[in-house]
Amino acid sequence: MAGKIPQSFIDDLLNRTDIVELIDSRVHLKKAGKNFQACCPFHNEKSPSFTVSQEKQFYHCFGCGAHGNAVGFLMEYDGLSFPDAIAELANLHGLQVPVEQSGGYQQNPAAADQYQLMELAGRYFQSQLKTAPQAIEYLKQRGLTGEVVKQFGIGYAPSGWDGLRQTLARSATAEAQLVELGMLIQRDNGGSYDRFRDRIMFPIQDRRGRVIGFGGRVLGDGTPKYLNSPETPIFHKGKELFGLYQVKEKYRNPNRILIVEGYMDVVALAQFGVDYAVASLGTSTTPDHMHLLFRTTAEVICCYDGDNAGREAAWRALENALPSLQDGKTLRFVFLPPEHDPDSYIRAYGREVFEQQLDNSPSFAEFMFERLSRDINLSGEAGQNELANKAIALIRRVPEGFNRESLLTRLSAQLRWGENEKRLRDIFRRQEQEDQTRTTPAKSGGKIKLTLIRRAIALVVQHPQEAALLPPLPDVLKSLNEPGIEVFMSLLAQLHSNPMTTGQLLEHWRGTREGNALAQLAMLDGIAIGENIREELEDVCDRLLDLYLQQRLEILQNQSQLTQEEKQELLFLISEYKRT
Ligand code: GTP
Ligand code: MN
Repeated sequence: MAGKIPQSFIDDLLNRTDIVELIDSRVHLKKAGKNFQACCPFHNEKSPSFTVSQEKQFYHCFGCGAHGNAVGFLMEYDGLSFPDAIAELANLHGLQVPVEQSGGYQQNPAAADQYQLMELAGRYFQSQLKTAPQAIEYLKQRGLTGEVVKQFGIGYAPSGWDGLRQTLARSATAEAQLVELGMLIQRDNGGSYDRFRDRIMFPIQDRRGRVIGFGGRVLGDGTPKYLNSPETPIFHKGKELFGLYQVKEKYRNPNRILIVEGYMDVVALAQFGVDYAVASLGTSTTPDHMHLLFRTTAEVICCYDGDNAGREAAWRALENALPSLQDGKTLRFVFLPPEHDPDSYIRAYGREVFEQQLDNSPSFAEFMFERLSRDINLSGEAGQNELANKAIALIRRVPEGFNRESLLTRLSAQLRWGENEKRLRDIFRRQEQEDQTRTTPAKSGGKIKLTLIRRAIALVVQHPQEAALLPPLPDVLKSLNEPGIEVFMSLLAQLHSNPMTTGQLLEHWRGTREGNALAQLAMLDGIAIGENIREELEDVCDRLLDLYLQQRLEILQNQSQLTQEEKQELLFLISEYKRT
């Protein structure tokens, strides 16, 4: 486990960061009244509903509901994990991220050590390759040049059971770390052994070029053909792409990126000058992959085998890409002849022919309609409705805009419903309504019922500086029978010990059940009625106290036996609150 980052450090980072400056460096912001605005980077829109508040140090999109503070923005926009977003901010301010010591037992290894160990493992495999003639022979026979082998840091894991272990597991701590990193496997009776043996090793790098995992290929026909690192604290298959680091090294803004299935394909393509290919890591292409790719480039081309499995993989990729297809983004598909994969194809035909295939490849729309209408008979009404329903279910996932409209136009042409587009819009709307009845909770745009306690909480998160000045409330208020009172009380306690902006305050609630609801309340309009926030805050507190006293009155009245004190309390409450 990596050590925990102290909350005080995160508070301090957010103190030093201006969210307006941070976001503006990525998405151009315009001043609009008190706030800043832009077209939302998280969904497609023509008029700006993405709003950044300098005062609250918080952003919110009124269109899609995206929201968060500076850390959240970096996570969403740059696709970073929480620790990486913190590291990025720290870096911006020239700070080192400290690690909280969890006292008692031995210090937890910091993530930095894990990256370093993986780096060393990569170097170890590279050095082993030099002294393994059979591995060198294998790579040669696969047609790889020394240059590309070096460029991708390809190495060799020797066949013994403890080459890596002997070299890197110098201490019990290092051994435990290597087990956690998936490089060693723990034996039942203690000790450990190398996971990767007698394999060609492909290091997998994250977007900063750090080695986070490996793919290992057998030299011959053994099984499994490829062995990949397991999921570890620093390696998440569904989020990483083999080769993306190399592509980004080469091109700051690649015109297009090609997704292929295999490590070997990426490497072979690069060798032949197609140096913009990436591969998923033995999993199908996930929505995270697509999101990441479309943040990097405007055109993604999926290149899969022409066989059935390849077509299935392509279809899954298409489904996962739809939400990322904002205007200006395109997705295309290339299917190679069944006997080929990109590696063998480019070796057989060369770069030019291969790139011609890319240039002439069908768009996602063509692939989508071909596939959808494959098993549907369009001559009858039933078939037409089936196609319309299936297609619209997919088209709805595409962000609003040109891409979505052109799919609808195409659908109506295919159905020969051209003169009757209303029919399509009706299906569209009906599906949307069905969806809405299925997903109940109030999302963005949906109405949040503004109870007293919600309004109180909203006032506090929207105006934390003022809330910090409130006199402390009596502790008994916690027993008010009203959902949310604990949240309200802890917010106030947090602010009393440490005045903060909205963005900082919400950071304390990251990952909690309440965090999301708080963020929504933070951006709700029309919470404060007038200009005097302090007064409104005092007013809601008074009303909460009133509510508490009334509840108390009811409890005492329903109780048959009262102590002397309770009787006095009851009398007092009656005189104050009983309205007859
Ligand atoms: P070569 O046979 O070396 O050319 O590899 P390839 O990339 O052409 O292999 P293939 O098309 O069979 O596999 C494509 C990708 O699927 C590989 O790069 C791996 O990521 C993954 N893969 C293939 N075989 C296995 C396996 O046995 N186990 C796992 N976990 N992944 C595999
Ligand atoms: Mn292959």
